[in-house]
Amino acid sequence: MSKKILMVCLGNICRSPLAEGILRDKIEKKGLKAEVDSAGTSNYHIDATPDKRSVLNARSHGIDISKLRARQFIREDFERFDRIYVMDSSNYGDVIRMARHDADREKVHMILNVLYPDSNMSVPDPYYGGEQGFENVFMLLNDACDTIASAIENELKN
Ligand code: 4NP
Repeated sequence: MSKKILMVCLGNICRSPLAEGILRDKIEKKGLKAEVDSAGTSNYHIDATPDKRSVLNARSHGIDISKLRARQFIREDFERFDRIYVMDSSNYGDVIRMARHDADREKVHMILNVLYPDSNMSVPDPYYGGEQGFENVFMLLNDACDTIASAIENELKN
């Protein structure tokens, strides 16, 4: 069974493209059969490339996210994906409001809960801050994606 993972934030230009790039990189390095995508709950940046600061940060870690394009989260994403990781509690509310039934709701998780179960911590929105905010986001997402990639590896083995 292949795993399909969707990363979600507000604009799909800062945090979720980084999360997509980081997880895809780990999955490729492990040689796993899994699919990764990202989307934003808002329509603010549809078709935009990721924020330059996210592109540069990813590049500094050997990951190219420059070719990604922003899109808006749609209800059909509940069918296309096995798991939906949101960056913050506001994204969580926005996605959960679009769910049609429990099977949809069960797919939605705060991404940092993979590191700190039940903490419901948010990945801080780096949009209005400086470079350090992006590096902080990278570190959080890198740790979370290590855990997610290992979990996928284990599931695919079984
Ligand atoms: P993201 O960051 O949700 O991590 O992509 C943001 C990008 C743009 C805006 C807010 C957050 N904005 O308000 O335009």
